[in-house]
Amino acid sequence: MTDPHSAPRRKPKPSAEKLAGRKLKPATLMMGHGYDPQLSEGALKPPIFLTSTFAFPSAADGKRHFEGITGKRPGGAEGLVYSRFNGPNQEILEDRLSVWDEAEDALCFSSGMTAICVLMLAFCSASDVIVHSGPLYAASEGFVARTLSRFGVTYRDFPAGADSAELESVLEEAKALAAKQGGKVAMVYLESPANPTNALVDVEAVRGARDAVLGTDCPIAIDNTFLGPLWQQPLRHGADIVVYSLTKYVGGHSDLVAGSVAGAKRWMDPVRMLRNTMGGIADPNTAWMLLRSLETIELRMQRAGENAAKVCEFLAQHPKVEGLGYLGMISDARQQDIYRRHCTGAGSTFSLFVKGGEAESFRFLDSLRIAKLAVSLGGTETLASHPAAMTHLSVPDERKAKLGITDNLVRVSIGIEDPDDLIADFDQALAKV
Ligand SMILES: Cc1ncc(COP(=O)(O)O)c(C=O)c1O
Repeated sequence: MTDPHSAPRRKPKPSAEKLAGRKLKPATLMMGHGYDPQLSEGALKPPIFLTSTFAFPSAADGKRHFEGITGKRPGGAEGLVYSRFNGPNQEILEDRLSVWDEAEDALCFSSGMTAICVLMLAFCSASDVIVHSGPLYAASEGFVARTLSRFGVTYRDFPAGADSAELESVLEEAKALAAKQGGKVAMVYLESPANPTNALVDVEAVRGARDAVLGTDCPIAIDNTFLGPLWQQPLRHGADIVVYSLTKYVGGHSDLVAGSVAGAKRWMDPVRMLRNTMGGIADPNTAWMLLRSLETIELRMQRAGENAAKVCEFLAQHPKVEGLGYLGMISDARQQDIYRRHCTGAGSTFSLFVKGGEAESFRFLDSLRIAKLAVSLGGTETLASHPAAMTHLSVPDERKAKLGITDNLVRVSIGIEDPDDLIADFDQALAKV
């Protein structure tokens, strides 16, 4: 009989990550990594574990698990405990998310915003300063400016394209402000490409400035929702933590809401501890759907990227189009340089500047027949929205103007439909402007 006091965690059989000296690619690992059918009656695919709690093999095991969960013993939980902390579907998902960004650890959440809020709360104390790039997704910006500020956290921001000198200057300013307040610079938070302008942040330059001004104890986090995980891997370029709204390309079918953060355990441990306390972990059903989505993510993103290139080629020539904010057609030399160093693809989400203002943009949006008029992005279907009047409505007018969120900006996210059908749709809608 096994000793009940040393019942091991029923860890999955380690999956092959290398074969004949070859490191297996993420697309291969998405089919089975982190899941052992023998732990689930041989089921080829993981069942959805609908349970709120997990039975301990013994009281001693229960105690050990809680020591890990509460941080009394380093290393985290050794087994499944309670569904606010962990669950099999979520653990498999987190293992697979780590693969794409080559992260040591990943954590999944019930939405992108839950991930972002818990991440920031895990690192900020009263009197601290957050430095962030601008623009950010409006809810992220609002959380810093309107919620964290109520707890004595202040912020400084810089334009997405800032160079090393500008970055060092804003970090020096933030450091002085933190010293005056009696706190620290708690986090450098980036979003690149930025929603909705597609402006890129030079992550390498941010890393250089952070190291020079603040040292390495202040993490650099980056929201990689628009290009990740396929076309940009910011941990390779100097970020410490990568953040996703999994609602977008990773979920990819516009049928779920979820988020994640990933990075070295050093950065993930405090986030995990706070998630254990607050909750906000993705539910098992959503985690299962994300596992299914991850099996096709490379195919979906590649097709959407190819479609976007064709659609943008058409739009760029159209007389009713004033311009495009598409990463495949960058005219600014500095942005082009960042793109060349950080990105391996232009993505499928871009800004389309219609000639005219809000009225012309609305006429265009109301005339689309295939593309749906909805916020969000990264799904199988093409979506179009008007950030100034929708996702970024809460951003003050002055800031909108400064960030280039104009009344003639339509944000488009191209899906995986037939590209010529999409071009026909944009053509007929532009004819009605
Ligand atoms: C860049 C970016 N980050 C974060 C979010 C928030 O994610 P969620 O809607 O999953 O909470 C969004 C949502 O649109 C986004 O576009």
